[in-house]
Amino acid sequence: MTTATDNLEGRKADLLEQLRRAIVEDRQVMDSEPAKTATQLVFGDGNPAAKIVFVGEAPGASEDKAGRPFVGQAGQLLEECLREVGLSRQEDVWITNLVKHRPPANRDPSEEEKRLYAGYLDQELAVIQPTVVIPLGRHAASHFLSDFSISRQHGQARRVSYEFADGRTEDLLIMPFYHPAAALYNPQLLATIKEDFKKLQSIL
Ligand code: URA
Repeated sequence: MTTATDNLEGRKADLLEQLRRAIVEDRQVMDSEPAKTATQLVFGDGNPAAKIVFVGEAPGASEDKAGRPFVGQAGQLLEECLREVGLSRQEDVWITNLVKHRPPANRDPSEEEKRLYAGYLDQELAVIQPTVVIPLGRHAASHFLSDFSISRQHGQARRVSYEFADGRTEDLLIMPFYHPAAALYNPQLLATIKEDFKKLQSIL
């Protein structure tokens, strides 16, 4: 039997597929350096009707190869943190990046490159309508929050008035976490990151 939830998920999946195709047909994006040097587009992945959306900055080498976000070492840590609070990557969350092609040699994307992709992230969020958006790391967080410090404000939920690329403004609940890759360089951070994941239960 098909349920209303299945239908909603199916409709959102169709809209996201249209969005994925729109990106590969966008000449400005496809002529930019990340798209020209990447192997493929790394679109978002997970449950299109999820209440939680994670946003990274840009794919790395493993993601570029697989065509899926967060599949390398940082992704494995992200999955471990999700599992420990009883969440599954495929069933309970949507995982995406602001910039959806790997920048050459993993360099930071330029402001202009971020702007090229930002409208697509906005449309992704508008389709999914999550309860909470979790930027991973200070680069992704600074897309949503001005005047932001990851060490002081990680794990704190803030309702912000977010201006979408099409000029619409809507309230979004933003709860930045450390990027899981930070725990690869500084293992002491892993406990802090896991404490932040536990806060998700009270938000949902
Ligand atoms: N880091 C990111 O920000 N995004 C990925 O997809 C992988 C690593």
